[in-house]
Amino acid sequence: GTGLNALAKAAGKLYFGTATDNGELSDAAYTAILDNNKEFGQITPANSMKWDATEPTRGTFTFSGGDQIANLAKANGQLLRGHNCVWYNQLPSWVSNGQFTAADLTTVIQNHCSTLVSHYKGQVYSWDVVNEPFNDDGTWRQDVFFNVLGTTYPAIALKAARAADPNAKLYINDYNIEQSGAKATAMLNLVKQLIADGVPIDGVGFQCHFIVGEVPGTFQTVLEQFTALGLEVAITELDIRTTTPASQSALAQQQKDYQSVVQACMNVDGCVGITVWDFTDKYSWVPSTFSGQGAACPWDQNLVKKLAYNGIVAALTS
Ligand code: G3I
Repeated sequence: GTGLNALAKAAGKLYFGTATDNGELSDAAYTAILDNNKEFGQITPANSMKWDATEPTRGTFTFSGGDQIANLAKANGQLLRGHNCVWYNQLPSWVSNGQFTAADLTTVIQNHCSTLVSHYKGQVYSWDVVNEPFNDDGTWRQDVFFNVLGTTYPAIALKAARAADPNAKLYINDYNIEQSGAKATAMLNLVKQLIADGVPIDGVGFQCHFIVGEVPGTFQTVLEQFTALGLEVAITELDIRTTTPASQSALAQQQKDYQSVVQACMNVDGCVGITVWDFTDKYSWVPSTFSGQGAACPWDQNLVKKLAYNGIVAALTS
């Protein structure tokens, strides 16, 4: 069949998916593509399951935005990735500015993860339980979780998530771990320690926010270092940005880059699927964060497939 998810499944992967966001769901031309489970067999909410959206004040949970995405996945016959339980960013100020004892913050993490994961029990294929724990030099990020609890907080979150939904795959997700180096080594050491300690951990997510012409050559090798530990891996937030307006040569290089990233997942049995961080340049996060950059997605601003799409197809049919 045609369509990215149909091709991914025919090749033995679980899914090809995309991030989406609630504000985009009123765009009928957009949802016509999003809802087609031949293109996308999995969706991830880009914002609406994050801490600021789900527990804006302590002990008060709001799931309306997340539920809209979860219900859409169900209606479309798509898998759902939960994103995320514990992350330094998009935290409500009661968490980021809280003055916590270790015992109090442990309870806060347990209650947040447990309530969030329980709410979606049975609906989520995999959860990003811990997101972006490391700095680029491989040291731990100095966020409220690390500052109060040190290296113990991932285990607290993972155990709470496992108890809340024993069938969900539990992931740690990060960026700049796609190439061999200090940050990938830090992640490898963390998951080895969690496994040795008997902490529940099923997978590692590689975000893959790349730049045209700069896809790391060691990506497949790194994926294999993680699957060798018995973990699954996934490409969770793929996009490949360039200077805008994008030149024809940049878009041609982008096609090759998409192909090589997807090929790395194809070459590794334990790589279960690929998610793009939204499929169209119309809704990409890139231009608002990196001024003068964008054009990072496989569909353009007008929801027309780019050369990048052909690169993905080439890898999925290799
Ligand atoms: O909801 C508010 C709205 O009320 C306000 O009027 C508006 C004005 O700025 O902002 C809205 O919040 C924005 C939010 O997206 C929802 O649209 C935030 O400003 C904006 O910063 C936020 O950006 C998100 C970003 O995470 C925040 O870090 C992106 O949409 C989202 O795609 C991005 O996703 C992250 C992953 O979670 C983790 N990995 C990196 C990835 C890309 O940054």
